[in-house]
Amino acid sequence: MQTAAREVRDLAIEQPSSVRIFERFGIDYCCGGRKPLEQICAEQQISLPQILEKLAEAQLVAPELAEPWTTRPLAELVDYVVQECHATTCSELARLAALSAKVRIRHVGGHPEIVEIEALVKQITDEITPHMDKEERVLFPYFVSLEKAHQSGLPKPCSFFGSVTTPIATLMAEHELVGAALARIRELTKNFELPQGTCPTYHALYTTLVDFERLTHRHVHLENNVMFPRAVTLFEKA
Ligand SMILES: [Fe+2]
Ligand SMILES: [Fe+2]
Repeated sequence: MQTAAREVRDLAIEQPSSVRIFERFGIDYCCGGRKPLEQICAEQQISLPQILEKLAEAQLVAPELAEPWTTRPLAELVDYVVQECHATTCSELARLAALSAKVRIRHVGGHPEIVEIEALVKQITDEITPHMDKEERVLFPYFVSLEKAHQSGLPKPCSFFGSVTTPIATLMAEHELVGAALARIRELTKNFELPQGTCPTYHALYTTLVDFERLTHRHVHLENNVMFPRAVTLFEKA
């Protein structure tokens, strides 16, 4: 099938270098990624030939991203998500809490939406912190042990939660909540358009919010679209 006719979610899974291109063009490859690339380009008025050219270029300039996570060991993907996505999520949320409080104190008069933005940052923190803790302490070690058992030809390890599909459904529902909070922040900030005459802290807040949204989309994509389906397959095979 031609690239243009493929769903962007599948392109993001098979060609990891495509993720940066989708981010640059504001294409949702995560929760809204179950649409053909050509359809998304038409809906968002993006040039399809330009995207196709950038996707081809990305594969040449980022050879380290050529191998998809679908073929690397699951343990390596777990390690990457914990070391890169989880660690950065914690540090960036701490920065966002400090920046949003500072902006609220200085600018709440002219920009009342900052109160809700600060509350949403806190809500995301309260939702994602125990979520990542649950992944790191319970589910991810189980995924790794499933892979090891499979490689050694042993039966699947026992778990207190039964099938992996139950906790995975909970984690995916929690991803949706975080995604909805981020979408609301995007709406409140008018797609992160910096208001006129604002201070460097305001600028830093918006830049950090943009980066955090990208990080979260990548994080959720790697779990929902790659790690969880692989864990389910291993569980069902064992
Ligand atoms: Fe995670
Ligand atoms: Fe997660």
